[in-house]
Amino acid sequence: MTDRAADIDVWTAEVAEDDPGDDRNVEACWPLLTEAERARAARFAVPGDRRRFACARVLLRRLLEAKTGVPAREWDFAAGDHGKPFVCAPEAGRRIGINISHAEGMVACAMAPGTMIGIDLEWLGRVVEPRIADRRFAAAEAAALKAVPADRRREAFLDLWTVKEAYVKALGGGLTISLDGFVVDAVSDRPVVRFLDPAVDGASWHFRHWRPSPRHVLGLAVRWPGAEPVIAVRHVPLPAGLLAPG
Ligand SMILES: CC(C)(COP(=O)(O)OP(=O)(O)OC[C@H]1O[C@@H](n2cnc3c(N)ncnc32)[C@H](O)[C@@H]1OP(=O)(O)O)[C@@H](O)C(=O)NCCC(=O)NCCS
Repeated sequence: MTDRAADIDVWTAEVAEDDPGDDRNVEACWPLLTEAERARAARFAVPGDRRRFACARVLLRRLLEAKTGVPAREWDFAAGDHGKPFVCAPEAGRRIGINISHAEGMVACAMAPGTMIGIDLEWLGRVVEPRIADRRFAAAEAAALKAVPADRRREAFLDLWTVKEAYVKALGGGLTISLDGFVVDAVSDRPVVRFLDPAVDGASWHFRHWRPSPRHVLGLAVRWPGAEPVIAVRHVPLPAGLLAPG
């Protein structure tokens, strides 16, 4: 069930990395992928990449179907200049903001009507290079990370990263967006973010952060002027969640 009263919806799904039958998940996805998506899926050399790509695209279609009533197979996506997908069909869905993220073992997607949304999912076991913070994050963030005990720094880095990346993904500009123009002052379930550019209407941006599993961390950014958005989160079992409407 999807919460039809929610403003923003986020769905996550665990995608087994060592699934010898890959392919129950991918098979469940195949009929709902477009020709272009199937061609792209087929080009992934690593089965896990193919699985995550296919599952995320179908998970997003199932979410859109559950939320709008428009069947999953009628949705199609195109990409903007920097790769951010947007809805290109059906026509009535073009104003719905969407985003996708994948990480080892999990995929996530999000939708928000008529606005920008970004989501970033990371596997807590991934190798990271915290020195990136010195080069690219705001000075206050780099300093805060240095103050974290070494054995907790990777997790703290990923907490920060997911919130920053979610905002960058909401804007869609990829590497053209400077990471030191906004400061994540505190990461909690509602991260506190400060914009250094006075032209940014910071009050319109809402951030969330949570652990969708003990092994994953997720950041969400959405532009939602006015009251606080109601955000519904759902964890979907695969492959059943791909086969059946929400
Ligand atoms: C393109 C980029 C957004 C992809 O992020 P990633 O962490 O490698 O991968 P994720 O799994 O989280 O996201 C991939 C999905 O994001 C979406 N996406 C692609 N380009 C995007 C963009 N410019 N903006 C928003 N979303 C984008 C796609 O849906 C893609 O999945 P799909 O092609 O399978 O549908 C990212 O590499 C990027 O450009 N980052 C620039 C900003 C930066 O330097 N951030 C550092 C961290 S703070």
